[in-house]
Amino acid sequence: MPSLPVTMTITSRVAIITVDNPPVNALSHAVRAGLAKQLSVAVADDAADAIVLICAGRTFFAGADITEFGKPARDPSLRDVLAQIDASPKLTVAAIHGTALGGGLETALACHHRIAVASAKVGLPESQLGLLPGAGGTQRLPRLVGAEAALDMMISGNPINAGAALDNGILDRVIADDDLQAAAVSYAGELLRQGTGLRRVSQLPSPEVGDGFFDEYSAKIKRRTRGFEAPERIVACVRAACEHDFARGLEIEGELFAACMASTQSAAMRHLFFAERAVAKLPGIDRNTPRRPIETVGVVGSGTMGAGIALACMNVNLPVVMLDTDAGALARGRASIEKLLAVQVDKGRLTASMRDARMELLTTTDDYGAFSELDLAIEAVFETMAIKQTVFRALDAHCKPGAILATNTSTLDVDLIAKATARPEDVVGLHFFSPAHVMRLLEIVRGRATSIEVIASSLSFGKQVNKIGVVVGNCFGFVGNRMFYGYTRESQLLLLEGAAPEIIDQALTDWGMAMGPNAVGDLAGLDVSYKVRQERTDLPDDPRYFLIATLLAEAGRYGQKTGKGTYRYEAGSRTPLPDPEVQALIAAESARLGIQRRTIPADEIVERCIYALIVEGCRILEEGFAVKASDIDVIWVNGYGFPRYRGGPMLYADLVGLDKVYRRVCEFRDIHGEQYWQPPALLRDLARSGGSLAAYPGATTP
Ligand code: 3HC
Ligand code: NAI
Repeated sequence: MPSLPVTMTITSRVAIITVDNPPVNALSHAVRAGLAKQLSVAVADDAADAIVLICAGRTFFAGADITEFGKPARDPSLRDVLAQIDASPKLTVAAIHGTALGGGLETALACHHRIAVASAKVGLPESQLGLLPGAGGTQRLPRLVGAEAALDMMISGNPINAGAALDNGILDRVIADDDLQAAAVSYAGELLRQGTGLRRVSQLPSPEVGDGFFDEYSAKIKRRTRGFEAPERIVACVRAACEHDFARGLEIEGELFAACMASTQSAAMRHLFFAERAVAKLPGIDRNTPRRPIETVGVVGSGTMGAGIALACMNVNLPVVMLDTDAGALARGRASIEKLLAVQVDKGRLTASMRDARMELLTTTDDYGAFSELDLAIEAVFETMAIKQTVFRALDAHCKPGAILATNTSTLDVDLIAKATARPEDVVGLHFFSPAHVMRLLEIVRGRATSIEVIASSLSFGKQVNKIGVVVGNCFGFVGNRMFYGYTRESQLLLLEGAAPEIIDQALTDWGMAMGPNAVGDLAGLDVSYKVRQERTDLPDDPRYFLIATLLAEAGRYGQKTGKGTYRYEAGSRTPLPDPEVQALIAAESARLGIQRRTIPADEIVERCIYALIVEGCRILEEGFAVKASDIDVIWVNGYGFPRYRGGPMLYADLVGLDKVYRRVCEFRDIHGEQYWQPPALLRDLARSGGSLAAYPGATTP
């Protein structure tokens, strides 16, 4: 028989209700039912005058059980249980450790008092799941901390630490990280002796705000929350907390929570919650797979990526040796890291002594001798095969046996790089995204010979440096950039067909992309993608293929760095401005190629670009270069600014309906030709069988 998730004991006239529901004490049906029962027992038992609510294991409740969402509701609801806690005639104390999140913090807020250990964190992250706190959080939190602080917490979804929560009134007491249960019992005794009584947050007065507060607040968050539905609903709930009594506020919260729960946005964001955790679940890799500890890192190349990767490691306390053959470049790399840390100090995110401690982790050198004891070496030199192979020969000669040798190449063949060594099983691609110390995505590229142990260790390393590591196969552009090619190919063709760059970018940003493809090209540098195309021997025989990007690069219009690209830029500004010269160039090329220009509606622009992504994603799955569709979603949301509320390109296809996507792809094939629009068999078969990409099993190894 499994042990009960909720138990009760009485000590010193305090009933201790303990919840034990690993791994994170999610408020599942069994927990809610157990809580309701034990609360009744504790209230009825004359041996107890107060109740302490505490969790076993690593954390206080981390929230409602997300796996239950979308399934039929089962009583008691969390709201029922919290009403019971709130109404308890005996004083209730929440004893918090770990992370009290979402419904977990709402449970604590329903208690009459809250005590926590200093390492605890509290937060309402529901907006990150496309939801709002739906168990009274939008009504109780503002009554405790005021409307603005409550809104900031709920809209960002970021947790705050115990010290801050004590300062703003969420917590009543913070204790050192020792025996929380004993401290909570003694705190309850103290409150009883003092006759403090029950402090029901629901009975506190409504928070007050100045005239126009909510309109101003909405205007302030508008840019940051563009496209997301939950934030405005959270504002409406807090407005209700200010304007109505608790009961009416709760009703409004309930209606808006239900609307969020039924939304596609929340389904998409919940999909990503699990997808981001599923990336590490790979066939052949489990808890018992041996992993090599990474305690020291070497970085070869101190340019844009090398410096960023070094900083990403230093930020998590890893000592780094950075090597470059160009002394000037090495000094510039060090200076750029210093500058990035200085910005953190200026923003108050880092103290001067923390910055100094981080800089001490960095050693610079031009001598591979300094690599002899390192656990991991990451190469980030020029994107040229011969240079990469020279570097890997040197790494092979100097690194200790068992060291992991990684390349940050974005386009080159990892197997060919591995061939330069006598240990290809230790070679892997670790493809960071720029800026490497900020972007969360890490593509882990598995070469033909890469060992399972090296893949597992790379996944652990990704976690260590706070990245989401996704294992992908070794094809051109891997997963992310290969799909990006399909997407930008279409945006380039649309230019020739009549859509101006700003019209294309506007259509896609209105749809939710963080930036349009033309603005991205100017930011990344049109020269970079030009050089990559020059190196390729497998480009389609099509005079239109990346024509405009090629002509612009050949004219020295590289983008932001030259003040001119697809757009033009005023000196010192990054704002893209339409350039009549480029418009004339595009029109002339369309005429030369005999292309009939037309006005292209925004939804067609979006379909052409996004369906191109879906088509390429299906091919990647068919060919086995990604293990599962949700891995592709994680890559696009975390590396390419795909809107989180659409769940990633593959989930988006499922949500639109694969039959509809398939039919549209067939139409594009009939209009624009088979070269780019031949529907993948996977898309066709799933459309016909009524299957979904999310459920497609995919390859066992990428
Ligand atoms: N429900 C169900 N499962 C959950 C869960 C939840 N709320 N939170 C975490 N899990 C699962 C994860 O899926 C994972 O499962 P797996 O091992 O099978 O992959 C396991 O618990 C461990 O989670 P992590 O790998 O994320 O562990 P970490 O230690 O890195 O992080 C955490 C722990 C900070 C608690 C993190 O899991 C987290 O942020 N969880 C979600 C918190 C959240 O969003 N809560 C709000 C829920 S919505 C809500 O409460 C609605 C209410 O207002 C009515
Ligand atoms: P970069 O030009 O800024 O830096 C490259 C550095 O390598 C220079 O400092 C150079 O002196 C050094 N170098 C060249 N040959 C060397 C050698 N033999 N030994 C040691 N150092 C050497 O280039 P960037 O942009 O940092 O790119 C590096 C790698 O990262 C490339 O493979 C690139 O494809 C990849 N990449 C780049 C991204 C980007 O956005 N810039 C994104 C993801 C990957």
